[in-house]
Formats: sequence, C-alpha cells, structure tokens
Amino acid sequence: MLQDQFGREHNYLRLSLTERCNLRCFYCMPAEGVPLSPKDHIMSTEEIETIAGTFVKMGVNKIRFTGGEPLLRKDFANVAERLSKFNCELAVTTNGILVDQYLQTFKDTGIKKINVSLDTLDESKFNSITRRDYFKRVMSNIELLFTHGFVPKINVVVIKNVNDNELIDFINLTKEWPTTVQFIEFMPFSGNKWDLTQTVRSEQILEAANLYFGKNNISKIQDKANDTSRKYGVNSYKGNFGLISTVSNPFCDSCNRIRLTANGRIKNCLFSQGETDLLKAVRAGEDLEQLIRESIYNKKSKRGGIQDFSSESGILKAQENRSMVMIGG
Ligand code: 5AD
Ligand code: SF4
Repeated sequence: MLQDQFGREHNYLRLSLTERCNLRCFYCMPAEGVPLSPKDHIMSTEEIETIAGTFVKMGVNKIRFTGGEPLLRKDFANVAERLSKFNCELAVTTNGILVDQYLQTFKDTGIKKINVSLDTLDESKFNSITRRDYFKRVMSNIELLFTHGFVPKINVVVIKNVNDNELIDFINLTKEWPTTVQFIEFMPFSGNKWDLTQTVRSEQILEAANLYFGKNNISKIQDKANDTSRKYGVNSYKGNFGLISTVSNPFCDSCNRIRLTANGRIKNCLFSQGETDLLKAVRAGEDLEQLIRESIYNKKSKRGGIQDFSSESGILKAQENRSMVMIGG
C-alpha cells in the first residue's frame, strides 16, 4: 500500500490525459488559454499503460480520467481499453461535449462513474462562464447518459454573483434525476483571478437549502470513507447533493488521492508545488516504484502546505501552482 508519513493510504489516481480543452471556463484558465507542453512531452498510450500499471501494482484500485478535457484525447478509447485490463475501477470527469461519441467505449471498458461539469442551467450564462457555445450539447449529452443507463454526477463550481442564485434549481434537478449534484467551492489557481469573497462556503449552501426546503425536509446521507463531498438529500427526491469544501474546510485527513499530469508528473496534492517526473524516469528506463513511494511519503498534511487561503501568502502560493486545466481537478 502507498502510505504517506501521516499514515494515509493512497489508492485513487486522478490521471490527466491531455492539457487541451474545448471550453475556456474562466475559473479554470485565462481566456487566451495556457501554453501547452510540446506533444512529445505528453505521455503516449504505452507510457500511460506502463505508469498506470505500476500504480495499480502498488495498490491503486481506482483511476479517474481527467484533463483538460479527457475525451479530446484521440486515443481515449485505446487508453481506456488498455487500462480496463487492470484490476481497477475506471471513472471519468468530462465537460460532456463529446460524451455521445464514447458511450460504447464507456460500456466496453466498464467506465460507470461519470462526472459532468455543468455550472449553470442558463444558456447565456453558460456561454459567458465557458466562453464557448455548447450548452445544448452538454444538456442533451447528460440526458443521453441517463437514457443509456449511466448515472452521471453533476459538478457545479459555485461562484458568488455568478451562479449562486441557481443552487435551488440544481437541487430541484435531483427530484427526478437519481443523481448527485456536487457543489464545489471556488478555489484559487494560477490565472483564474480568484478572490475569497467569490467563494460561497458549503455551509452557506446548506443554509440556503435548509431555508428553501425546510430543515426537516433535508436529511444527511451517509458518506463513504474517502468521500470529498458531504452528502444531503431533500426527502422524497430521487437524487441528492454533495458539498465539496476545499477552501473552507478541507478533507485532507482522509485524502487518498494521487494526481498524475498529462506530462507525466506526480502531484501528491492538488495544491502541491513540487512534482515528480515519472515520464522522464520511464523514458530513461528507471525504476518508478521508488519515485512514487517517495513522492507519496512526502505529501504535506494539508493543502500542499498552504495553511490558509485568507492570507496573502497562502493565496500567492496557490496561484504559483499550475492552472486547473493543467492539473485535472
Ligand atoms: N475551483 C473549483 N473547482 C474547479 N474546477 C476547475 N477549476 C476550479 C476552481 N478554480 C472543477 C471543474 C471540474 C473539476 C475537475 O474541477 O469544474 O468539475
Ligand atoms: Fe475545460 Fe473543465 Fe477547465 Fe472548463 S473547467 S476549461 S471544461 S478543463
């Protein structure tokens, strides 16, 4: 098992397949995009298989494909097929735009856990958040997933004065949709012009829900051991909603996550400033296990060592990090 110095066991790999994205969400990256790594600095299909296989051998039993937008990778089906041979659950986080092209791949490779990012139910707001025009396509692809028997979760990054007036509309989706809507606190990264006053704390979301539905009509739902979201449901609704409070109340104590960027670097935490270059090691024929073990062992106890997002130094440190599109969430 991959243990860190605090005894946390790491069995979940978030694997970024590409730095590219077909949206330009303002909270994730600047309008002009980000400078991309040269193509030969990105892991090939074979290299992904080798590196992911090493993680699985060391105890990883869940891999989530992330990006950029993972479905933009031309060989997505091939990567998924190769990794489906491992003894490991596969999952994906996508913006939904290309989902219709991969339903068969999801079925063939056993990808059941599909998270779709959708921050608003209003088309013109969608266009201004994402700086692109794909609202109808994303909505119809979410419905398509349900039609094909998938139960996608919906990820909503909640931002003050942008979409915090839609919380109840999102929760109301769960009346008929047996899904989880995950409300994510807006976090600081390089290039996203973050400011603490724009973060809506999970606690405020719960208060808004209590106020609207009545406290007695909302129940806490049992979370699983390493869940990053605290789940609640409106009684009698088919689905529920989760609160992901990275900024106000991080869940670092139970963190089991490892991230691998598309250019093959381990980030042992979403906010880690150091990275370990596995791609270079693979190309040099070096032993990966030792590097992986060391990287995980040295993980900081909380948010990559950033104590506090309300201090100037904490924010600066977070913004020296990669932009979100270069990490994968
Ligand atoms: N704060 C919170 N969540 C973010 N995501 C991207 N950027 C941010 C941010 N600044 C989310 C995406 C996606 C997930 C991978 O990360 O919306 O759902
Ligand atoms: Fe693309 Fe997701 Fe970033 Fe939006 S948040 S630009 S969909 S990677």
